[in-house]
Amino acid sequence: MDIIRRIEEGLLYIGADDRKIDKFESTISIPNGVSYNSYLFLDEKTCLLDTADQDVSKQFLENLEAGLSGRKLDYLVINHMEPDHAYNIGEVLLRHPETRIVSNSKALLFLSQFFPKLDLAGKTVAVKEGDVLSLGKHTLSFYLTPMVHWPEVMMTFEKEDGLLFSADAFGTFNTLDGNLFADDTDFSSRYLESARNYYANIVGKYGAQVQMAFKKLPVSSIKMILPLHGPIWRKDIPYILDKYQHWSTYSPEEKAASLFYCSMYGNTENAARLLASMLGERGMKDIHVLDLCRSGMGEAVGESFRVSNLVLLAPTYNLTLYPEMDTYLTDILRMGLKNRKVSLVANGTWAPVEMKLMKEKLSTVPGMEILPTDLTILSALTEKDREVLGKMADEIVSSLR
Ligand code: FEO
Repeated sequence: MDIIRRIEEGLLYIGADDRKIDKFESTISIPNGVSYNSYLFLDEKTCLLDTADQDVSKQFLENLEAGLSGRKLDYLVINHMEPDHAYNIGEVLLRHPETRIVSNSKALLFLSQFFPKLDLAGKTVAVKEGDVLSLGKHTLSFYLTPMVHWPEVMMTFEKEDGLLFSADAFGTFNTLDGNLFADDTDFSSRYLESARNYYANIVGKYGAQVQMAFKKLPVSSIKMILPLHGPIWRKDIPYILDKYQHWSTYSPEEKAASLFYCSMYGNTENAARLLASMLGERGMKDIHVLDLCRSGMGEAVGESFRVSNLVLLAPTYNLTLYPEMDTYLTDILRMGLKNRKVSLVANGTWAPVEMKLMKEKLSTVPGMEILPTDLTILSALTEKDREVLGKMADEIVSSLR
């Protein structure tokens, strides 16, 4: 059965939630699923904006046909060729051979790569920055926003009602569960962490390109943001723009510390607990402690984008970085995180090298400041170590000022 939603006169939501997915891009754990959003204009011309992932094909295609109600599909605008949005293009063209595909030259190249058997001759309309497509009452213009999140990404702006179809930007993990609009949810408690995790793990590396997009988009004319994942923004747009401003400039949202630890037998975990407790005693709010061997790495990367101070604790492992600490550091470096203050605690019994290795890996990142007090535990905490952790807690708290 089709499930279509009216966004405004002549514009439908025809996407779908996916609750069966466990890992986005087969690597990022998303226990609460994701939505694949697709939009359909019913104007003098009909126009579909992006399709949907293979996991929701049946629902998406039923929605499309119900939305069209027997009309032909004049245009398919492709804002992003990643298959979570583009998978159904082939099926749409089979059903609607009359459709013209509207996108930029790079997206059309990727289209031919992903669908090598599609005969696209005479079916495509290549657009450039600022080109305009009239549907009747609605006029679409196109903004090239490369690397937000792939090089072919563009955003589509409808000028009469101020609708920004923002591709991956402003997307979140988590299903919609019937609430299309962010203002119909308690966004900060239900979606903010997922939105941050989505940004940090998907777009995080491309902060400079997000900033470039902000400069060219008609930001003051935007009345609604319609992303390809997660809720639509029709109110409180400055709220989500402000979050993106922080994330894309690698500025922490909160002056606070989060502790990321690995522990084999509980001694490094003991240090994480003690330091967190000392920070709490000193009045620090909203401290998070993550066990990297059990938290998802996507969650750890997202949390690292939230706070100003990172505390990393791990034991030596066969004279190499502890595996999950190595993965965590690789991931935050991969996503370009910078401008953070870092405190380090290492552990080892006979040849402790974790401190040296963590410092070496962090030294490859510009803008990471390693605070002076560090601690290498020899097997288990001593009273002298407690004093050093106290000094570290004082140093972290004073670094927030
Ligand atoms: Fe939701 Fe970059 O795809």
